[in-house]
Amino acid sequence: MVVNVKPLMPDHAQLWAVHMPYPANGARSSPDRWPDRWTDYLAQDEVARAQRYRCAEDRARFITARLALRGLLARYLGASPQSIDFSYNAFGKPLLPAAPLEFNLAHSGSYAVIAVTQSHHIGIDIECHRDLPDRDDVAAQIFSADERRSYDQLPESARLSAFYRAWTCKEAVVKALGRGLQFPVQSCVVALESDKPARLIRLGEDSVAAQHWRLHEFSVAPGYSGCVAVAGAGDSFRWPGLNWITLVDLFRGLPPSQDGARLEA
Ligand SMILES: CC(C)(COP(=O)(O)OP(=O)(O)OC[C@H]1O[C@@H](n2cnc3c(N)ncnc32)[C@H](O)[C@@H]1OP(=O)(O)O)[C@@H](O)C(=O)NCCC(=O)NCCS
Repeated sequence: MVVNVKPLMPDHAQLWAVHMPYPANGARSSPDRWPDRWTDYLAQDEVARAQRYRCAEDRARFITARLALRGLLARYLGASPQSIDFSYNAFGKPLLPAAPLEFNLAHSGSYAVIAVTQSHHIGIDIECHRDLPDRDDVAAQIFSADERRSYDQLPESARLSAFYRAWTCKEAVVKALGRGLQFPVQSCVVALESDKPARLIRLGEDSVAAQHWRLHEFSVAPGYSGCVAVAGAGDSFRWPGLNWITLVDLFRGLPPSQDGARLEA
């Protein structure tokens, strides 16, 4: 099935997800199983980064996420995947300054997610819930005083998902800003009531600007948290559901890579 990218409407984001199930002994016959052979679609710096991964599964996940990003942007722009020429801001956020697209990528565990919109700064994060031994110490570093108080009042059984809910919301915001963890995440304060959508209430000293952010939580699978954050958006901003894609479907019909290989099973 070919992936159909619908035109982006103003005040809409489109969300895409890829499953990356790479068992250590997985068959290497299909790019959706093992994508190492399809690096011809990547830029030299991406290939160099891929080669620096010692763990084959992590390398495969990086390559898959980049292939998915290139394949999707190529479909939005009517271009070939390898012609996508990323710039990076000072904190490493990939950008396409000349294109009318804002996008962001995240990967964790067996999933990668990509958010695309027209004209708003956008950030996305997913996290696989891992039971970090130092979770409460990390919470102390990333939560504001009020967030920390609410977290401490939760029963232990609710803390893991509350922790990752806060983490993904905050990280989506700092990724939309393009600052990564250079931004003091403690001062990015989110309201996380269990029965209400997440809301940004303070960004640094600025609680007015925070009102113009929209957060949207999603789940790719049980045991994962996810959030997309958009800056400068009103209540009318819309988030249609997650679109699931495979690399084979995404690259079907797109031009072959430089050496003529096609990403097909
Ligand atoms: C980018 C950053 C913010 C997130 O990294 P991460 O959680 O390891 O990875 P994610 O999967 O969420 O995102 C990685 C992708 O974001 C994009 N990215 C890189 N730098 C970015 C930046 N400054 N802003 C936005 N996006 C960025 C890239 O596409 C990157 O993927 P790729 O290089 O594999 O193509 C990183 O700078 C970082 O600081 N990570 C630590 C995360 C943390 O400790 N968070 C605490 C809770 S808030």
